[in-house]
Amino acid sequence: MKREAQIPSEISPNRYVEKVSLGNDEALDEEILPRQLLVHHHRDYHIVDSYAHYMMGRVVKATGDENWAYEKMKRMRRLGHRTSEVLARAIGQKDPEKISKALFGLKKREYFFRYKRHPHTKEEVEASIGVLKEEAAEQLAAASRDGKPAVRVLLTGGTGFVGQEFLWQAAHRDEIAEVVVVIRPKEIRDRKTEELLEVLTPEQRGSDLLRRLWLEGTDAERKFRFVAGDVEEPDLGISEDELAGLASSLTHVIHCAASVAFDDPYDVSFRANVTGTLNALRFSHALQEAEGSPFVAHISIETSYIHGRRIRTPAREDEIVFPRKFYNNYYELTKAMASIETERFMLDKGLRVVQLCPAIVIGESRAGNNRGDTKVVNAPINLFGRANQARGRGSNRFERSKINALARLACIFPADPSAQINLIPVDRVAEGMIAALIRPRAVGERIHLASEHRITSEQIRDIVNQEVGARVTLAEPTIHRTVTLPLLTGVLRRLKQPKVAYAMEKLGTIFAGYSEWGQPVHQVGRDVRILGLSEDRPNAEHAFRMLCRHNRYVQDYGKVRDPDEISRREKIWWELILELERETGRPVGAMSADDFRAALHERLDLEAFERKS
Ligand SMILES: NC(=O)c1ccc[n+]([C@@H]2O[C@H](COP(=O)([O-])OP(=O)(O)OC[C@H]3O[C@@H](n4cnc5c(N)ncnc54)[C@H](OP(=O)(O)O)[C@@H]3O)[C@@H](O)[C@H]2O)c1
Repeated sequence: MKREAQIPSEISPNRYVEKVSLGNDEALDEEILPRQLLVHHHRDYHIVDSYAHYMMGRVVKATGDENWAYEKMKRMRRLGHRTSEVLARAIGQKDPEKISKALFGLKKREYFFRYKRHPHTKEEVEASIGVLKEEAAEQLAAASRDGKPAVRVLLTGGTGFVGQEFLWQAAHRDEIAEVVVVIRPKEIRDRKTEELLEVLTPEQRGSDLLRRLWLEGTDAERKFRFVAGDVEEPDLGISEDELAGLASSLTHVIHCAASVAFDDPYDVSFRANVTGTLNALRFSHALQEAEGSPFVAHISIETSYIHGRRIRTPAREDEIVFPRKFYNNYYELTKAMASIETERFMLDKGLRVVQLCPAIVIGESRAGNNRGDTKVVNAPINLFGRANQARGRGSNRFERSKINALARLACIFPADPSAQINLIPVDRVAEGMIAALIRPRAVGERIHLASEHRITSEQIRDIVNQEVGARVTLAEPTIHRTVTLPLLTGVLRRLKQPKVAYAMEKLGTIFAGYSEWGQPVHQVGRDVRILGLSEDRPNAEHAFRMLCRHNRYVQDYGKVRDPDEISRREKIWWELILELERETGRPVGAMSADDFRAALHERLDLEAFERKS
């Protein structure tokens, strides 16, 4: 196993997590290494353990009962330990764990992890949150004009997927008087040579953003202002000249910037997600404390996956508990740490905060528009789409059969058919952000922006095959990760196909964690009760269908990269989807793949991406 570089104490997990003895429930004075908190560290080290996971996947498929499978697994483990004890006695081995490890891959853990508790009692917490809500209501009333809130927001992450949707919705909401967006400069490099071609200033990025959001030249354009900054710097890297003006005008800060990369190393994720959050919290605290400040609240964008992997108990909105089944990656872990920092600022310093936790965010619910995002769920869909496009290409029979074989390999999706993932369209997330600005009752609350209708890997496969035309097959994730993937990628590399091998590895290692049986269930309810959002949460199946259609036709599976071209296409696409909705009287996501394709070909010149006259 690779040795982990020394973790500096200021970013050590020990700030948040403690290792506790199972024997006496006391915290152990030991350094906790980040990798010990990941799912991967605790499995795949023994063939029997891998096989047991595989078998449980089959049991869940047959019975549909994850709890039963989990109990069965626990019983099998106990049996393994007992058998090892008997064998140890029989052969005179003093340490039965040596046998259980060698034969069954079973390690007895004498400890567990938990988050460090804050020192406040339940009553103290409730009382102080009550005060914070009242203060927020008074501040919001003071910031209102003609009985209507007039909020002035500072937003981080405005150039990102979620941030852009917020800007679009904010442009159309009267309650939002001003949005100041913190933007860092952007280096443009040649994709092949990495040569630096240009550095875009925050002002340039801001005006590009407004043009691409179709806001250039509109009245709403005046609401937006762009300031240079970097969330990894103190004061968010904002210049002193700007700071004084902001302190006397801002009513809210929305901290939305983060690094949403599932394969970043711990220190990189920590800097972007925890250090960034701490800087934003300190910034908001200074605003709140300033004399005569109009500040109402700080809104922190987190993720419902801060609850990590848990099987038996739903992930609750009102608490964060260290997951019994650990975290899938450092993104989830550092977002959980950021949530704890946010809670500490609220409880220790009295900062008025709202924590919003979206599930896996996908394109807009009606049309699938995503403003060029290619992350998370988009990545495998684009891979399947491109593999499908490649099929049948090649100048001779040998070439064609080679390409076809590679395309088939690229369409192996390591997922348990019963695994359910929680998808939430980006428009619902932005609606939640806007509601949090104008609902002081949200202060002190952690709110999941998730769906109660989760979608299974089987449904995902079927929709992809219908909409993309691919032939995706599901592979059992444990066997795929431990046996098939290393074999296949080894062969692919020997055949000089490093790109396909890399794509398969990424798909296998990054997404397998989200497509195994035993995915967490995220409790929902506060989105409706507290934020006042519609009870009809978006239909995940329809939204996922629209994601596939959008990625296919608008983005050509990620090959259309120019943001201006994407913006042009998305406008045409949006108008076309609304027209179809009006004509059919139902959501376009409810149309079958064949009906949608026929309607599209009738109305759109797909080559030029122009409406047919
Ligand atoms: N996408 C999802 O599925 C998902 C799910 C749940 C929660 N969330 C949360 O939602 C939020 C937004 O996610 P997203 O999908 O919109 O991410 P995204 O598209 O990757 O955008 C990230 C944004 O953060 C900005 N940023 C990152 N580091 C920065 C820094 N040091 N200084 C200034 N800005 C910085 C980026 O700016 P540049 O343009 O300069 O890079 C960009 O605007 C995150 O907090 C994320 O954890 C996302």
